Amino acid sequence: MTAPTSLSQDELKTLVGRAALDYVVPGEIVGVGTGSTVNKFIDALATVKERIGGAVSSSEASTARLKALGIPVLDANEVASLSVYIDGADEIDGRGYMVKGGGAALTREKIVAALAQRFVCIADESKLVSVLGAFPLPVEVIPMAASQIARRFESLGGQATLRLRDGRPLVTDNGQHILDVRGLAIGDPLAFESEVNQWPGVVTVGVFARQKAHVCLLGTAQGVRTLKF
Ligand code: 5RP
Repeated sequence: MTAPTSLSQDELKTLVGRAALDYVVPGEIVGVGTGSTVNKFIDALATVKERIGGAVSSSEASTARLKALGIPVLDANEVASLSVYIDGADEIDGRGYMVKGGGAALTREKIVAALAQRFVCIADESKLVSVLGAFPLPVEVIPMAASQIARRFESLGGQATLRLRDGRPLVTDNGQHILDVRGLAIGDPLAFESEVNQWPGVVTVGVFARQKAHVCLLGTAQGVRTLKF
């Protein structure tokens, strides 16, 4: 697909959201992520809703959008596996490792991604990085552990701040809080994810290395670039 050079970031998101339809398997249930790029995908999915079995959603926000467009949403417990999970990213590197959670949906995103045989990441080209960590790393935490976990990140050279909404700690769909950690350069995402996941009180770290992308549809000024990992 070729795009004119003047596409806005929003138009690039629309482009990759539509391109992701090629990865939806007719008659099957599709895993659906969260975020502004995924919203474009959901809008595109609505145009073929008669040809799919429904969706498993990664957030209350995506569930609401899917249902509003007449796409049936199944509980993740009803599904043993998915052929494909489609989601955005805050950063993706050349190996398909990602930072996610800018929309605070990282825990459910990782759960749905773990059900899927293939993770298709949709992103505009600003998300492609050589080393993960410039985007503040989201970490969902049990509230009583937040300060302890923030200190652990400080010992790694990071600065963690509690994410706020309207002046109060943001509460996730799972009733927990989010730390955003600046100042990290995550050279070994697999090891980093394993390490941080062990810390008491961490619900989910926003490094997606075990649930990495298999394909990335990257919106560029030249059109959709397909990266395979
Ligand atoms: C939500 C996410 C999103 O996929 C990520 O924040 C990218 O969002 P957008 O498509 O709006 O840039 O991880 O938790």
